[in-house]
Amino acid sequence: MKRYEFLRNFTYGLAAFSILPSMTYFKSGNGLNPNPGNSINESFNPDLDIELTAAQRNLQVFTGNKTGVYSYVSDILKAENATVENLPGSWLGPVFRVKQGQKVRVRFKNQLPSESVIHWHGLHIPPEMDGHPMYAVDGGEQYVYEFEVNNRPGTYWFHPHPDKITGPQVYRGLAGMFIVEDDENNLPSGQYDVPLIIQDRIFDDNNQLVYMQNNPMSQMQGFLGNRIVVNGNPENNLEVSKATYRFRVLNGSNSRIYKMAWSDGSDEIVIGSDGGLLPHPVRIPYLMFAPGERAEIWKDFSTSDTGKDVHLQSLSFNDGSSMGMGGGMMGGSGPANGTAFDICKFTVTSESGERKSLPSAFQTIRPIRESEAVNAASPRQFRFYNQRMQWVINGETFGMKEVADWEKVKLNTTEIWEFINGDNGQGMGMMQDMMEMPHPVHLHGLQFQIVDRDVSGMSSDSWNTIKDGFVDDGWQDTFLLMPGMKVKIALRFKDFTGIFVYHCHNLEHEDMGMMRNYEVVK
Ligand code: C2O
Ligand code: CU
Ligand code: CU
Repeated sequence: MKRYEFLRNFTYGLAAFSILPSMTYFKSGNGLNPNPGNSINESFNPDLDIELTAAQRNLQVFTGNKTGVYSYVSDILKAENATVENLPGSWLGPVFRVKQGQKVRVRFKNQLPSESVIHWHGLHIPPEMDGHPMYAVDGGEQYVYEFEVNNRPGTYWFHPHPDKITGPQVYRGLAGMFIVEDDENNLPSGQYDVPLIIQDRIFDDNNQLVYMQNNPMSQMQGFLGNRIVVNGNPENNLEVSKATYRFRVLNGSNSRIYKMAWSDGSDEIVIGSDGGLLPHPVRIPYLMFAPGERAEIWKDFSTSDTGKDVHLQSLSFNDGSSMGMGGGMMGGSGPANGTAFDICKFTVTSESGERKSLPSAFQTIRPIRESEAVNAASPRQFRFYNQRMQWVINGETFGMKEVADWEKVKLNTTEIWEFINGDNGQGMGMMQDMMEMPHPVHLHGLQFQIVDRDVSGMSSDSWNTIKDGFVDDGWQDTFLLMPGMKVKIALRFKDFTGIFVYHCHNLEHEDMGMMRNYEVVK
């Protein structure tokens, strides 16, 4: 496969926000759900209390025309031992840094022309606070999130989650990071602890973002851009000191899967996954990295030569899809998943900084044994496939409050769930076999462990190009389910009853309905 040129020579001025006339009226709730989120709870005493407004902005990204984006803008009302930082000049953000056990209140104000809701991806919080599409509020309305940070220290994130329009809202700029800090003294910190949010986009000649153009085939496949933006900035050149870094990498792309590797031939040293630090650092030649996933990467530039460039790249791979089409073929769409390109460039400056040595282990993670599960003998099965031009889960699409019997679980139980890509369970029908694609599977409300990844049904042409890129020994909330793959996860339902979604994190698939509810009952 030929190398695709992502980086064109754009110049751009100093980025600045210009604020469009905003809506000033506020109603509360969306009528459907009169109680949660309506107003602040006076007895809840937050460590962090902020107003977060989603609005349209015109941002000076390039020289010439400003780019119309959506952005979250924060206003800090109270912050004790917690921070909320903007990413300068970016449409993305902000970046929260909080501690386990802290209480957070976010007064979300929707000033978008469409309904929205914020989902706290990876957090273990009550269903009314989790950003289920049923809690979306219209433009001009607000929703108050109040929750305690229960999660392990780690890299979580947040983004909109309204039914059918999550893809376009994230695409236009709405996403930020939610870091739960640890007190590991041996890890790079401060300026050496760096978020890297990777996305792909298309800009037109007027510097405007281009989305799906209502092309049903692109919708089927998902949006693929033709240039990479890192932290909401199309100039992907980052300067680093001669120091050791902890990169908190988030794949914030709608559909693009990266096979991440360093251009200097060094291994990817993965120290954390979705749900925090791994028990041990893992060295792999490349990391398969699907939309929604996070990875903490250790990188030592301390002995690099000044002026030297090190590229973070995406290597070529076979994504196993059988769509009868390639990504590059379609109008307004970027190169297919699996095409090689550079993600960003790190230039090493002459400044020397902190050098750390890689710890050999972190906190142990007790593996959940299959025998602890109430259904170990017959795990629930979730089949992700295509049925008559529609992506489905066990033959079904999303219904706002719909929960099938096979989606009800009991509080305080452990289960094994098995996810299967491409097999409808009724024998290989012609129609289903024609369309297969990778699906990044994500569950709300909890972190789980991967107990088995069965690749016997995969094409070896695909598997051989990705086989060294999986890290399955930490806590996760999202995983890549390749065509023909079967993945078993172990999950425990605790603390909260109610309805949470699970879905494909290819946002176009999600918007098409490749999403369902599961309900935790007493
Ligand atoms: Cu990050 Cu339901 O998603
Ligand atoms: Cu989520
Ligand atoms: Cu999908």
